[in-house]
Amino acid sequence: MTFSKRILSVKPSPTLALNAKAVQMSKQGKKVLNFAIGEPDYLTPSLVVDRAIESLKAGRTRYTPSGGGPELRQAIADKLMRDNGLSFDINQIVVGAGAKEILFHTFMSLLNDGDEVILTAPFWVSYADQIRAAGAVPVIIPIPDGGRMPSLEVIESYATPKTKAFIFNSPNNPAGYILTELELKTLGTYLSNKPWWIIADEIYEYMSFDAPHISLLKACPELRDRFVLVNGMSKAFAMTGWRVGYCAAPIELAAMVKSLQSHSSTCIPGFIEDASVVALKAGLPLMEKDINTLRIRRDLAVQTMKKLGGFKYLYPQGAYYLFIDIRSQLKNGESSLAFSDRLLEQFNLAIAPGEAFGAPGFLRLSYAASNATLLDGIERLHKALFT
Ligand SMILES: Cc1ncc(COP(=O)(O)O)c(C=O)c1O
Repeated sequence: MTFSKRILSVKPSPTLALNAKAVQMSKQGKKVLNFAIGEPDYLTPSLVVDRAIESLKAGRTRYTPSGGGPELRQAIADKLMRDNGLSFDINQIVVGAGAKEILFHTFMSLLNDGDEVILTAPFWVSYADQIRAAGAVPVIIPIPDGGRMPSLEVIESYATPKTKAFIFNSPNNPAGYILTELELKTLGTYLSNKPWWIIADEIYEYMSFDAPHISLLKACPELRDRFVLVNGMSKAFAMTGWRVGYCAAPIELAAMVKSLQSHSSTCIPGFIEDASVVALKAGLPLMEKDINTLRIRRDLAVQTMKKLGGFKYLYPQGAYYLFIDIRSQLKNGESSLAFSDRLLEQFNLAIAPGEAFGAPGFLRLSYAASNATLLDGIERLHKALFT
């Protein structure tokens, strides 16, 4: 029996696997503290839930147009103008089943066998495997000291004639950095001299605590002809399970992403479209209280780590993760992957290993958890690392 070589090169999502194991252990009665998954721990606002129920009752239960109905795409275009100062025609916007599906279809639309895509570690878990599934090669730039975007010289040293695209994510999962306007302009000027597609994953936009989120396209409008902005409802509106993501892209690419969706998931449900319109129109003020709670948790987590001492981590300016450098604590050649496994088995702690993000030797802890869970978890982790 033979299988697709491309798909054989794809590994299942390690964060989802870790989460599944943690959930299984909890079901067996173990008191597992789960920091593995990238999901807000607060609920979708009732305004949004109520609109979905109303819409369901009104019969919005049939297929909708592939790529999103006009009302939803208009709400996204209005959001991009209001929040990001970016003007898009609704035909440049495609809605899919999560940013994950949108990214997958974008890679499938852009990449040919052997094309290279530059990723800077640490990066979100699915980019590399989606690129492989599209037949292309993820070219991974290792995590630099300080954990932010590598210098232009380093990026240049990974560029080849096969480079087709560059993907980045700010606010960053898992490192929590937010690129400044100056960093964006410097990066944008460099990219404007390259014939590459640029994919900007802005899904943590609303979780920008210490610096404003600026889209690279706003900082460098000259990139417009090959710029793909990816965002979604999951993180911004605590709508992970609803599966709504979108991109804004040059019209030819948008048409291809939409065409692929018409042959895969077809569309998102109408009642979810209607609920998403309500959320997008309300925008950040709808989420301000919950997002402020996240900021307080971030502060609590950082203070707790400082108080306990010994932790080395990247200061998280945004998103909701702590990316902890455990390279000095790993003993006898143990990998962070093995350590993460041991944390679950011995300490009932689910914390994702850096290997999932192209950065072995690190751990990613999601601080979207209650204060008590967070304090208990960080104490257990301290014990596991330092005693
Ligand atoms: C950086 C990043 N991009 C994209 C996604 C995908 O989000 P969704 O498919 O739920 O819209 C995630 C989810 O964890 C993420 O962390």
